[in-house]
Amino acid sequence: MDNALRERVIVINEKIITYYISRHIINSILKEVSIIMKVLIVFSTTYGNTQKVAELIADGINSVEDNETVVSNVKGFDINEDKTYDLIIIGSPNHGGHHTKSIKKFINNLPTTTLKFNSFAVFDTYMGKDFEKAVKAMEKHITEVFPNSTIALPGLSIKVGRIKGPIVEEDLVKCKEYGTKLAKKE
Ligand SMILES: Cc1cc2nc3c(=O)[nH]c(=O)nc-3n(C[C@H](O)[C@H](O)[C@H](O)COP(=O)(O)O)c2cc1C
Repeated sequence: MDNALRERVIVINEKIITYYISRHIINSILKEVSIIMKVLIVFSTTYGNTQKVAELIADGINSVEDNETVVSNVKGFDINEDKTYDLIIIGSPNHGGHHTKSIKKFINNLPTTTLKFNSFAVFDTYMGKDFEKAVKAMEKHITEVFPNSTIALPGLSIKVGRIKGPIVEEDLVKCKEYGTKLAKKE
């Protein structure tokens, strides 16, 4: 290979390397600035159905962009974590038309913690004819505690067939859909 040709090959190689390095840098920057949603889902459960709803909602949220969703049982959750979430979702089984005592306590304690959130949504599991009863009670409770809070979406109410479950077939699909809707709305 003569010198002129060797120099041309070197120049072309340099251009290829520069192209790949630039592409790598641009991709890293795009990932860094891409709008991801940080979500916290806190639930209470006796028989596991409300936990299942929480996990399905999280699947829906995480299926959009690179969102991050933390799902936690209210029992054992450290309310004093110093974090800000774009969205907090609170879920409870309907117990006597209301959310459970542990969720009531959690909501009451929220204003005095370092945990911060920009908007909220709620969900319940219920039996029989109590559609949205606990959802409405939770929305009212949160709005009383945080008068200027923003509801991301009206609450989701999921029916169970018996006291211990399972979730009725036609409602299962609504859980992930609700998560996806929340993610697209933010
Ligand atoms: C103490 C208790 C009270 C309940 N009261 C109601 C009620 O008033 N209305 C209703 O629709 N379901 C009621 N249920 C049924 C619960 O909503 C159901 O057990 C729950 O959705 C199951 O969710 P989990 O598996 O997460 O506990 C009650 C259940 C318990 C254990």
